[in-house]
Amino acid sequence: MMARSGYCLWFTGLPSAGKTTIARAVTPLLRARGWNVEVLDGDEVRQGISADLGFDRAGREAHARRVAFVAKVLARNGAIPIVALISPYASSRAHARKEVGRFVEIYVTTPLAVCEQRDVKGLYKKAREGQIHEMTGIDDPYEVPESPEIRVDTVGRTPEESAQFIVSELERLGWPLDP
Ligand SMILES: Nc1ncnc2c1ncn2[C@@H]1O[C@H](COP(=O)(O)OP(=O)(O)OP(=O)(O)O)[C@@H](O)[C@H]1O
Ligand SMILES: [Mg+2]
Repeated sequence: MMARSGYCLWFTGLPSAGKTTIARAVTPLLRARGWNVEVLDGDEVRQGISADLGFDRAGREAHARRVAFVAKVLARNGAIPIVALISPYASSRAHARKEVGRFVEIYVTTPLAVCEQRDVKGLYKKAREGQIHEMTGIDDPYEVPESPEIRVDTVGRTPEESAQFIVSELERLGWPLDP
């Protein structure tokens, strides 16, 4: 029997915006409905198939293309790939949308000042001190999504509330919650 097609949830946003955290909170909600869910986290993919890439524009674009390819393969096999990737370039996100086909762009809108306060990996601090370069939001661009399917504001919402909000938005937009 042919598996029903899945679809891709593509989280984009600044470092420390909450992409990984919310992706991990959405996962059990969709699994409980019977979906196979795979989180494709930018950091993890960089340790694997993108280990050869840097953080310049070409490196970030190639990284996003590889993630999009994997997401496409998963989605067409009936799974829900949840991508958590800064994906700072609009052109990369447009490419992913085209490549994957069934694609939901979710912009985690956390403002830079809040991200910088969270600074999960300490990279904002290092970038401010000039110890590292090509830090998105500091000395590397982040192109704000113009028409994402979903915007999620993490300020004043727990990750669980954000995850519930996303599921209700998926339903409202007509994406199947049951496989
Ligand atoms: N309401 C919230 N929603 C999501 N994360 C929150 C919230 N409040 C605080 N946080 C914290 O913010 C941090 C978000 O970090 P997370 O690693 O998810 O960001 P990220 O977008 O994946 O960043 P990166 O691009 O660097 O991987 C976590 O430490 C999380 O606990
Ligand atoms: Mg992350």
